[in-house]
Amino acid sequence: MARKIIIDTDPGQDDAVAILLALASPELEVLGLTAVAGNVPLPLTARNARQICELAGRSDIRVFAGCDRPMKRELRTAEHVHGKTGLNGYDLPDPQTPLQDTHAVDFLIDTLRAEPPGSITLCPIGPLTNIGTALRRAPDIAGRIAEIVLMGGAYFQVGNVTPAAEFNIYVDPEAAEIVFKSGIKLTVMPLDVTHKALTSRARIEAFRDLGTAVGAAVAGWTDFFERFDIGKYGSEGAPLHDPTVIAYLLRPEIFAGRFVNVEIETLSDLTRGMTVADWWGVTDRAANATFMSDIDAESYFALLTERLARL
Ligand code: RIB
Ligand code: CA
Repeated sequence: MARKIIIDTDPGQDDAVAILLALASPELEVLGLTAVAGNVPLPLTARNARQICELAGRSDIRVFAGCDRPMKRELRTAEHVHGKTGLNGYDLPDPQTPLQDTHAVDFLIDTLRAEPPGSITLCPIGPLTNIGTALRRAPDIAGRIAEIVLMGGAYFQVGNVTPAAEFNIYVDPEAAEIVFKSGIKLTVMPLDVTHKALTSRARIEAFRDLGTAVGAAVAGWTDFFERFDIGKYGSEGAPLHDPTVIAYLLRPEIFAGRFVNVEIETLSDLTRGMTVADWWGVTDRAANATFMSDIDAESYFALLTERLARL
């Protein structure tokens, strides 16, 4: 029985690779994609999500547009990392599939109420605005969600958009606070993990050597995406953040982490969006998240390449 998931996304080249990995994996049943404003504005993330599904030959996947700005803050985007379209690096044809009429938040609520409790895993890989809004509007769904596996936050790696905060959490800290205080089973892929999953020339060429449109697209996107991080960190390659969420569903054994308390800074301007992880157990705050810290990067990229070859 395939695991039912909903991917909440702000594509984004790394989001695109995560979506392709999910669509290439029969262990997973993607009930839909919910687009959110993040890397680029909502009209673009909703467009990109449909283009990615069509690249995978999966125009049957329903794409829902969600919130076009954070719950309480102005939207902050990241074109400087992802380019103007959010998918710079490889051009895809205009999407043919229409957006669903239903708002993403209504799709989340209706689907969670309709499906058996505990049968759906949510996979947010962008700002948590859609998820936070759904939980605020329909608190009853919290008990029906099997698990939330999200990309966001940082502890040892600290911030990427500010010295203190990772982008997804920074953009909508209030939404993140709702998620982290929801009591839902939570598995977090922070920068502490993703910064150990760096692209390299060999890893990108392995995508290109697939000889398929998907391989060419992923190679083009990662070539484009890595230039920013290499310039910033002086590293050999760029962290391929979002596919870690899907890889965890497929191969949890390639990850390691710790069940700790994680709380979100929402009051300070200086540390807004910081994921304050009690990694050393110095408080009596109850643990609420499995916060990942290690990944077997070789296995991660081997999984990615093997699965993308199937598309
Ligand atoms: O900080 C990395 C995260 O922000 C990734 O999800 C990337 O796609 C951007 O949304
Ligand atoms: Ca993302």
